[in-house]
Amino acid sequence: MFNQDILNRFQNEETPFYYYDLNVLQQTLDACTNAANRYNFHVHYAMKANFNPTVISKIRQAGLGADCVSGNEVLKAAEVGFDPSKIVFAGVGKSDKEINQALDLDIFSFNVESLQELGVINSLAGVKGKKAKVAIRINPNVDAHTHHNITTGLEENKFGINQWELNDCADALRQSPNLELIGIHFHIGSQITDLNVFKSLCVKVNELHQWFEERGFNLKVLNVGGGFGVDYHHPDTNTIPDFEGYFKVFDQFLERKPAQEIHFELGRALVAQSGSLISRVLYVKNGIKKNFLILDAGMTELMRPMLYQAYHKIENISKGDVAESNKYDVVGPICESTDCFGKEVELPASERNDLIAIRTAGAYGEVMASGYNLREKVKSVYS
Ligand code: LLP
Repeated sequence: MFNQDILNRFQNEETPFYYYDLNVLQQTLDACTNAANRYNFHVHYAMKANFNPTVISKIRQAGLGADCVSGNEVLKAAEVGFDPSKIVFAGVGKSDKEINQALDLDIFSFNVESLQELGVINSLAGVKGKKAKVAIRINPNVDAHTHHNITTGLEENKFGINQWELNDCADALRQSPNLELIGIHFHIGSQITDLNVFKSLCVKVNELHQWFEERGFNLKVLNVGGGFGVDYHHPDTNTIPDFEGYFKVFDQFLERKPAQEIHFELGRALVAQSGSLISRVLYVKNGIKKNFLILDAGMTELMRPMLYQAYHKIENISKGDVAESNKYDVVGPICESTDCFGKEVELPASERNDLIAIRTAGAYGEVMASGYNLREKVKSVYS
């Protein structure tokens, strides 16, 4: 990913910065849309993964819709040109202001996460004389077998309407003149690499789909969410996720009626591998038990390792493959002991000013940046 031209460019940039390889992004988008089109599946991009303007404009040009989880994401999606008829809006805590904004835009659907929210959307749509399109987000109680902090489809999670509430939900829908039920929605978690998990989801969706049909609800859309994971260990050799294999599971196991639309909400799989966080070594500090590589990037630029103990490959791109290596704890400058990108990382013997790449940072990197310690927001570089 880092040829000599890129390295020369990096030398002149102020670090840290996010680097996006737009070719990798395009190849990923092409692979996804080609595979989805084969099955006539619709993909909405989960904006929360990365809303860098250059990145989302490429995604919009690829023809994807937008999956949003805040009023600002909905507004941003519309502002950058996503057609409102391709915008969906999920989230457990939609405020009245956010619901009203989305109603004004006539978005494709509200993915509703509680009976209370259903009532509020019905009232607010009524005031505007509109009919809001809604999909019911159901908590399917399917284990995503991923990190417990990014699991969303278990009964202990706050997301979605529980299955034991569905009778009340059906009654509420019948009594809500300002709502149009268009479908059901699921999202069970993120960074899911075991495709069997999606098979289990399909089985559950089929069961719940039938439940609604038996009660006279005609579902135009089955939205199975996102969550497809990427290979954090091999960003160079396993760069493009196997979208074909992923969609095939749904083609095989999801029962679908003719004319019924199948929707996906992919975030990470589309953007993760195209991004890296590029940083410089400030100091090499040799301790008695440890050697520390102190970088000018920290948890303020990429929080995943600290928040979920997530692995990101770390490379010294100034040194390349040199024989002599050392083990370092690679840390940032933030005043927190957890500000560590990796422990005992084997790297070439490193020096002050070496460039360090923290890979697979295109998803949930820049968007989760913070200003803690009064850090400045860092810029992005593209090729
Ligand atoms: N749809 C809904 C309703 C979601 O909540 C999410 C992600 C997605 C789609 C997209 O999921 P993806 O395809 O990206 O897995 N910050 C965490 C990930 C949080 C995911 C939140 N929801 C991380 O860095 O691992």
